[in-house]
Parts: sequence; C-alpha cells; structure tokens
Amino acid sequence: MLISTQYLKFVRYNFCNSNRAFLSKNYSTFNPNIRTPFTVLGIETSCDDTGVAIVNSDRQIISEAIHLQQQLHEPYGGIVPNLAMSSHQQYLPLVIREALDKANMDIAKDIDVIAVTRGPGLPACLGNGLSAGKALAAALCKPLIGVHHMASHALTARLTHPTPNLLPFPFLTLLISGGHTLILVARGVNHYIHLGTTVDDSVGEAYDKIARLLKIPWLKGRGGGPGAALEQFAEKGDSKKFSVPIPMTKDKRRKEAMDLSFSGLKTSVNALITKHNLDIDDENIKRDLASTFQKAAIAHLTDKLELAFKWCKEKAIPLTALVASGGVASNKSIRFSLESLAVEQYNVPLICPPPHLCTDNGVMIAWAGVERFRIGLVDEYTIDHMPKWPISSLGSSMSL
Ligand code: KG4
Ligand code: ZN
Repeated sequence: MLISTQYLKFVRYNFCNSNRAFLSKNYSTFNPNIRTPFTVLGIETSCDDTGVAIVNSDRQIISEAIHLQQQLHEPYGGIVPNLAMSSHQQYLPLVIREALDKANMDIAKDIDVIAVTRGPGLPACLGNGLSAGKALAAALCKPLIGVHHMASHALTARLTHPTPNLLPFPFLTLLISGGHTLILVARGVNHYIHLGTTVDDSVGEAYDKIARLLKIPWLKGRGGGPGAALEQFAEKGDSKKFSVPIPMTKDKRRKEAMDLSFSGLKTSVNALITKHNLDIDDENIKRDLASTFQKAAIAHLTDKLELAFKWCKEKAIPLTALVASGGVASNKSIRFSLESLAVEQYNVPLICPPPHLCTDNGVMIAWAGVERFRIGLVDEYTIDHMPKWPISSLGSSMSL
C-alpha cells in the first residue's frame, strides 16, 4: 500500500515527460519504471566534510569524492558553522564534478536518482547541499531523495557487510558521531525505534573536548580529527594510573535508563588534573588521561547497550546483529568492546562499516538513496532542510 501511494506521488511531482520515456525502457521487480541496476548520486554536507558518491543498486560503489575541512577548523578547536558553510559553497561543485569524472559518467544519461542529506545537521551547511541536489534533480528531471543523515549511517552497514544478501532487519544500532549518540532498533529502511540518546554532549563531542583539554593535535587526513587523535594517544596510555567515575552509575534511576550522558566525563578529567596538579604538557600524562577517559566512555556505552539488548530480549525482537556506525565507531577500542558484548553475551555479530565509511561521506547518502528509492520513498523538489529531525519520526505510522 505504502509503495503504490508513494509511487503515484513520485510520478505526479517528480517526472518530466522525457524522463518518463527514458525510464520506461527498463524494468525492476519492485517498480516497473526503474531500470536495474539503478544508479544514485549522493551528496553530503550536513557538517564539515563535503562528500559526493555514486552507488548502484547492486551494492557497487562506483566512485567517491570528498573535500575535508580539518585544516579550516583545527585552529578553533572545533567546527565553526560559518566556515563550514562557505567551504561547502566553494567546493561542492568541484566535488560533484570529481565524483562524475572518476566514474566516467554523464549525469544526464547515467545517473537515475539524486539523493542528498536533508537533516539533521548544521542549518546553513544542509541548505547548501540540499539546494544543489534539488536544482540538479529538477533541471535533469531526476527523482529526488532527501536522506536522514543518521539513518544513512545505520544503513551503510547493509551496503558494506560482505554477504550475498543484505543484512536483514531488525538490528540493534549504536550511532555515535559528533552530533549524536543514539541507541535504536532498525526495523526497516524507514523505521527506527528510539531506545536511548545522550541527555547532554554526544560521545564525539566528549572525545573532541577532551582532545582540546589535553591539547592533542588533530590527526590529519581522512579518518583524522580530534577523536581519532585522542584514540592514538590512548593506545599508549595506562588506563589504570587514574580513574574517573563511569557516567550514570551512582543513581538507580539513571543507571536503569537507556539514555547516556557524557558531559560529566570532561568535568571528571578536569578535576583529576586539578587534584593531582598534573602537567598536561607531559606526553605520558596526556596518554594516561586519554586512556582513562576512553575506558570510562566505553564502559558507559557498553552498560547502556546491555540494557538495550535486554530490552530487545524481553520484547522478543529477533536481532540479526549489532550495527555500530558514525565517526566514533571507527575507533578500534570501541569496536573491540562492542564485539565482545555482542558476540559473547548476545550471540549476534558486530557489524561496522569500514572506518572511512563510518565518518561522514557521500557513499552513505547515495546508498540510503538506493534503499529508499527501491521502496518508492521519493520527495518533492520543494522539500526544505530539517536541522532537527528525530529519527523515530521516520515512518512513524508503523508500530513495533
Ligand atoms: O559521523 P561524523 O563523521 O560526523 C558527524 O555526523 O558528527 O563524526 C565525527 C565525530 C567527531 O567528534 C570525531 O572526533 C569523531 O567522530 N571521531 C572519533 C574517531 N574518528 C572520528 N572519535 C573517536 N575515535 C575515532 N577514531
Ligand atoms: Zn555523521
């Protein structure tokens, strides 16, 4: 029912006559007007990096281009929204061009669908990518798909997991990035049950703030930045030299909630420095503190995931996996702990996209476009960006 209603909407709003003729030459099992494999160009500009990629419905990443902004933001110790916006404005056309050139594709002939991040994210940055995506789709008479950034992080696991069939729903999902910390059950492409989120800072923000506090220089290049730099420091540190309390463990009500809290960790690390009069210019102390922070952050994540696993068990939800994605999920220590929890205690695999596809990129948006287009979820050319967009509001008509 959902598919046919959406598809009617799709034809009514998004097709020019010429495009109708072109698509009608090809057929798919789902939708008689889609050629297979169909090809999606995805645009990501929700935060700091400008990403564009071309992915097809056979799970092939045809090309990818990205413009990183680390050098722009590092002097300020964090993302500066205005700088991020003007950088997207400056580079997005070139990044689109690069993705098409790498694929050796003609946008008019070879691309079937335009997908673009619609939200959540920084308003001006989202606006940049969305305007470009809408203009391209309308000018070229292509269907347009506005993608939920966090849903696309989750769906990337279905693109990259190397099995002949797509990873089936439902899976427990931990999305950990600079802007979000979410525990969800992914029930379908457009259906997520919200179990928990942070009540204050995201885990990525906590990594970034501690990196700034300890004056750790950002790691350069793709997969770099403050969080990745802190991870490297923590690897050679001793997490037993100091200790900080694991968040939300003291109070019974907070301990039993699936929500998370990371802002206290920065306060605790700060208090350690003051109490022991620590010299944070000393590399060894820096490493030990980084390691102490990371250990507590991971313990907090696994505590809360354990509650989520138990909740799913009580509700008899047949989980196929634990999926972890978002920039922070590229962290090896986090992956290691999540894997032990999922495999040893709950007998499901941990599935994470490769690190370069955990941080923001165009591939995840193009792939979410594939997933949505396949089930007829397309948008009008007039859609607006949604800087705040709860993931649980997607497909909200569906129940547990
Ligand atoms: O998903 P993402 O690329 O952008 C957002 O949507 O926010 O995530 C960026 C966040 C930043 O806070 C960054 O420092 C953090 O992910 N991050 C890491 C690692 N790599 C990136 N945090 C911890 N360890 C890492 N290896
Ligand atoms: Zn992200």
